[in-house]
Amino acid sequence: MKSMNYILSTIISLCFVLTMKAQSPYSLPALPYSYSALEPNIDSTTMWIHHTKHHQAYINNLNQALQGTEAGNLSLNDLMSQISKHSVAIRNNGGGHYNHSLFWTVLTPNKNTKPGKDLMEAILAQYTSLDSLKSLINKAASTRFGSGWAWLSVSADGKLLVSSTANQDNPLMDVVTEKGIPILGIDVWEHAYYLKYQNKRGDYLNAIWNVVNWDEVTRRYHEVIPKKKGKFDEWPEIKTFHKSMSETFHPSEEGNLTPVRSRSNELLQNAIALSKSKIPTQFNNKGVQSAVKKLVDGSKALDKLVKNKASDKAITQSLSKLHDTFHLIVEECSH
Ligand SMILES: [Fe+2]
Repeated sequence: MKSMNYILSTIISLCFVLTMKAQSPYSLPALPYSYSALEPNIDSTTMWIHHTKHHQAYINNLNQALQGTEAGNLSLNDLMSQISKHSVAIRNNGGGHYNHSLFWTVLTPNKNTKPGKDLMEAILAQYTSLDSLKSLINKAASTRFGSGWAWLSVSADGKLLVSSTANQDNPLMDVVTEKGIPILGIDVWEHAYYLKYQNKRGDYLNAIWNVVNWDEVTRRYHEVIPKKKGKFDEWPEIKTFHKSMSETFHPSEEGNLTPVRSRSNELLQNAIALSKSKIPTQFNNKGVQSAVKKLVDGSKALDKLVKNKASDKAITQSLSKLHDTFHLIVEECSH
């Protein structure tokens, strides 16, 4: 009887835990750094209150608002994209949870992060400079009346989009006019800056750029826009040859022939591997084929000179000729 009671009470406890979990799908994500890590740009007290009180309150209220609804079964992103179907409490607190979860990740104590290559190209193409993009975002943030957010998003046409939203709305929501997938969000609620900056929102907006995590913004950008492929990604053998070439040729330009004297056979082996590799269709023309043959011959000649302990002058000339041949392949690949 005793063991029956034990089993029953275990089942009841388990059901209780499962019910609680079903009713509370969201919990506070840990900060990826300490509360003081963003000092002096964002003070530790603000970070602590913002994270443990404000963000936690959005989560508590969201979990409560989701009780008895089907919305708890949706992913947070799906919930945002159909937010018009749900209550104001779910909109405000779901937005609050989504926005703050993103916000913590796009900040960092690491200095000197910068936009990745593809993102930077997109920024320059649309805004001419990173500084002018920052000014536009600051303008969106400083002109947002009352509480809200400034955003950098990727819109449906793959372009970058600067916008701002009121309260805890965000560009994922079907209720906003400027829609996109946010890659950077800046909280301009007073709770984000008032302790340190009081009414000077502009000072907070200038300081926050010192702690923006461009690595994370870039990662989020590439979740939407795949990384551009390098020209030779489908021909790894030419990349391998290029590495050996540049690590031997460039020192030789400064009079250092040690790398080429120790690696001439590596150059030859890489040239042979290149000649045996399958030339990708887009590069496979007669010019490329004959330049690759020439590269093998040139590598053989260079390796022979090195083995015969030829003069610096002879080796430099041979390596320089080989370098020209390599660039001939690259050029022929553009035809
Ligand atoms: Fe906030």
